[in-house]
Amino acid sequence: MSLDALFKPFQFKSLKLPNRVVMAPMTRSFSPGGVATDDVAAYYRRRAEGQVGLIVTEGTGVARPASLNDANIPRFHGDKELAAWKKVVDEVHAAGGLIAPQLWHVGSAQGKDKLGKVDSPSGISKAGGEPFTTPMTDSDVADTIAAFATAAADAKRLGFDAIELHGAHGYLIDQFFWNGTNVRDDHLNGPTIAERSKFAAEILKAVRAAVGPDYPVIIRLSQWKQQDFAVKNAETPQLLEAWLQPLADAGADIFHCSQRRFWEPEFEGSDLNFAGWAKKLTGAPTITVGSVGLSGEFIAAFGGEGSQPASIDGLLERLERGEFDLVGVGRALLQDPEWVVKIRDGRNDELKNFERAALGTLY
Ligand SMILES: Cc1cc2nc3c(=O)[nH]c(=O)nc-3n(C[C@H](O)[C@H](O)[C@H](O)COP(=O)(O)O)c2cc1C
Repeated sequence: MSLDALFKPFQFKSLKLPNRVVMAPMTRSFSPGGVATDDVAAYYRRRAEGQVGLIVTEGTGVARPASLNDANIPRFHGDKELAAWKKVVDEVHAAGGLIAPQLWHVGSAQGKDKLGKVDSPSGISKAGGEPFTTPMTDSDVADTIAAFATAAADAKRLGFDAIELHGAHGYLIDQFFWNGTNVRDDHLNGPTIAERSKFAAEILKAVRAAVGPDYPVIIRLSQWKQQDFAVKNAETPQLLEAWLQPLADAGADIFHCSQRRFWEPEFEGSDLNFAGWAKKLTGAPTITVGSVGLSGEFIAAFGGEGSQPASIDGLLERLERGEFDLVGVGRALLQDPEWVVKIRDGRNDELKNFERAALGTLY
């Protein structure tokens, strides 16, 4: 199969990527005290040297007391934390790469008030769950929106090339989308997904105001949640449009559509995957992700399951057809910073298995 579709440049606003490969955000927990180390900077630099088109960093916490649930995940607020991120940006740029931070708030997904009072729409962590803490107040909501906007402005100031909001996988923003975790009785909830999108839309509007019209803003979304793989925020294409269009109108430029296996169709009656539908319905550029170049999916990797290299022909066919614009690659790049170069140069016999041990190192 021709690799042309994967190695065609991509341009959107100020973002000019040499190819279509996006390093997917991956939490590493190698930043003691929330400050990214020189090793973290070198880890991202290696991926830039390895010709990744755009690096999306591991999720990094916005300025709320409980935005993260692990003290070794890097924060995106505070002088020393931001100075450390500046070093990461500079290393990646020095190697000719481009980089966006993934701005994150975990909400109630894990841990009870572990590192501060949990922020969440309704104090519950899964559908049917018992409330274990109080819901966010109006002032918590306003402060959280402001925290995302400040982080976005800081990202731009530090020289990041774009930002990504983590709106997926059952974390805070997704907890507002999901009627299983959003049972509020205010304007941030309602019977439709459009109403449950208001929290994200408010964040996007504040972010857009903070970074201006030309700065690329990506939002990562998933139908699935870590709490429930089968549940969907939008059961039909019409509902998907009702979910995404308000986000595009509020300032989202690019949808990063997270699936565990990119080839799975989103709705019956069509082969289109989540990113394919998002592009078709909104006209916005989209990123697909999920088991690209590997035989098994990523949740099993946390349980110790390894994966072997797998053909990317099916991916190339979809990319060639224009189903989506960009391709997120997670574990293959975590295991091997040279994955892109090996694919480009046809060095398929040098592609590596993904091994659980890679989760415990920062190479
Ligand atoms: C170690 C690890 C950490 C991850 N951390 C994040 C994260 O911080 N934010 C996020 O949106 N997704 C995270 N993910 C999901 C990946 O971004 C990606 O969607 C997933 O691994 C599927 O891609 P893959 O099959 O190419 O690995 C993580 C995945 C792994 C393996």
